[in-house]
Amino acid sequence: MLSSDQSQKDLILDLNNRRKKLAEGGGLKRIETQHARGKLTARERIEKLLDDRSFNEIEPFLQHRLSDFGMDKENFPGDGVIAGFGKIDGRRVCVYAQDFTVIGGSMGEMAGKKISRIMELAMQAGVPVIGLNDGGGARIQEGVYSLEAFGDLFYRNVQASGVIPQISVICGPCAGGAVYSPALTDFIIMTRGISNMFITGPEVIKTVTGEDIDTETLGGADIHAGASGVAHFTAENEEQTFELIRKLLGYLPSNFAEAAPVVVPQDDPLRMDSRLNEIIPAEASLSYDMREIIQRIFDLDSFLEVHAAFARNAVVGFARLHGQPVGIVAQQPAHLAGAIDIDASDKIARFVRFCDAFNLPVITFCDTPGFLPGISQEHGGIIRHGAKILYAYGEATVPKITIITRKGYGGAYVVMGSKYLKADLVFAYPTAEIAVMGAAGAVNILYRKELKDHPDSENERLRLVAEYQEKFSNPYIAAAAGHVDDVILPAESRPRLIAALELLRDKQVNSPAEKHGSIPL
Ligand code: HXC
Repeated sequence: MLSSDQSQKDLILDLNNRRKKLAEGGGLKRIETQHARGKLTARERIEKLLDDRSFNEIEPFLQHRLSDFGMDKENFPGDGVIAGFGKIDGRRVCVYAQDFTVIGGSMGEMAGKKISRIMELAMQAGVPVIGLNDGGGARIQEGVYSLEAFGDLFYRNVQASGVIPQISVICGPCAGGAVYSPALTDFIIMTRGISNMFITGPEVIKTVTGEDIDTETLGGADIHAGASGVAHFTAENEEQTFELIRKLLGYLPSNFAEAAPVVVPQDDPLRMDSRLNEIIPAEASLSYDMREIIQRIFDLDSFLEVHAAFARNAVVGFARLHGQPVGIVAQQPAHLAGAIDIDASDKIARFVRFCDAFNLPVITFCDTPGFLPGISQEHGGIIRHGAKILYAYGEATVPKITIITRKGYGGAYVVMGSKYLKADLVFAYPTAEIAVMGAAGAVNILYRKELKDHPDSENERLRLVAEYQEKFSNPYIAAAAGHVDDVILPAESRPRLIAALELLRDKQVNSPAEKHGSIPL
């Protein structure tokens, strides 16, 4: 304790010394170990993520208050987490970073309180919160108090959902129940080689199920970005991780009540790319890359794909149209022919709901032969999962514009932002085929008996398929019925979408009064 006659100079020196100690985290040796593992420290991460000298730390001197288990014998700077606010590209954000050099970044009572405090500030200020996860989970010594800390964090993640964007970065271990905080946030970014997430680690798995697996294969960045879909993005290293966060935030409003940030348009709004007219093959069984369509329509180099390695039969992501951020949802004919399966349903539904929560118009590109057939899909609950897409589109009140590029068959056509789910405008390319099912399948059902008895059944089948295609596989029937607003050339997409967005900028929808709906989960 400082004595009252200490000079001002001493007080300043004392504060500086305390700050220096804080800056050293868990000590130089532990910092060296952190670096040797190819990891930055919590403070270095915050410095690199935020605009230069914009970081304002809160509660740096917070200390745990339990004296059990010898924790009173050592000073734990910041209690293992650094929190505060600052700016990214001039926009305000709140941030916290677990400090692995301090008791393994584990979360105890006071660390939890600090994170809750910054979450509270973020919500009150209406700014995004970014959590950098690198820790051993619940602090063992603090028992139920650390469990309380996690419980409180989960609660705050839920309260903040749909209010402010929440981004989780995994740049170290994130194990056990601790994974559920990132899982409750909007986006998870995992840094390759240094991050992992799992509920139970390799040793427990070996004991319980006998399976042998290493940490990386169990819960590394690639497995979560691909197979499990837990992670939305991966980055090669920490620099790239921070670059990605900055890029991602550029599409997002700071909170649900704000419009997404519009940038000065650099691209011609009337640009018509003639290559677009050639991408979709005339032959329905041939595939193409939907991402090329997207890249050529939206503002140059503005497409940021989300969940790129997960459920690749669907494409979701952000882009800009004449400077305005939008969400894009599409099928990918180059993967599983664009059929909608369980994972694609989850991916699409979640993305549409995020866009709706944060005022991002949804532009949909439909090319799907339908829901993926198969026992594993049926038994895995494709009915339950597919319903999520319907729910998400039906519930969304942001501007919704759909382009049917080719196949729009059956229920899948209905779920993919159709007029029936209150899409504001629906366009179709001349290649669009809107029908209950594809020609081959329809002919087999409608003419099964005739074909069975026909002397030249194969040729007759081909004739009937051609007839069906001519009669039904074009967009003009849907356009004549008013189910499609217009048939447009692919090259016209950009100006037509920009004009539609301009019209719908101030769209208002009155939803029925309710506490909240009950989405099929
Ligand atoms: C207290 C911890 C700790 C923890 C690590 N440390 N985890 N201290 N509580 N949970 C300490 C270590 O004692 C060590 O202290 C320092 O942090 C670094 O840890 P190491 O083991 O040396 O590092 P490393 O070899 O890299 O291994 C990191 C690790 C491992 C994989 C995270 O420490 C580990 O498995 N920890 C336990 C993970 C866990 O099961 N947590 C509970 C999850 S359940 P010294 O002084 O030696 O440097 C959970 C429930 C959440 O979180 C609640 C949900 C409802």
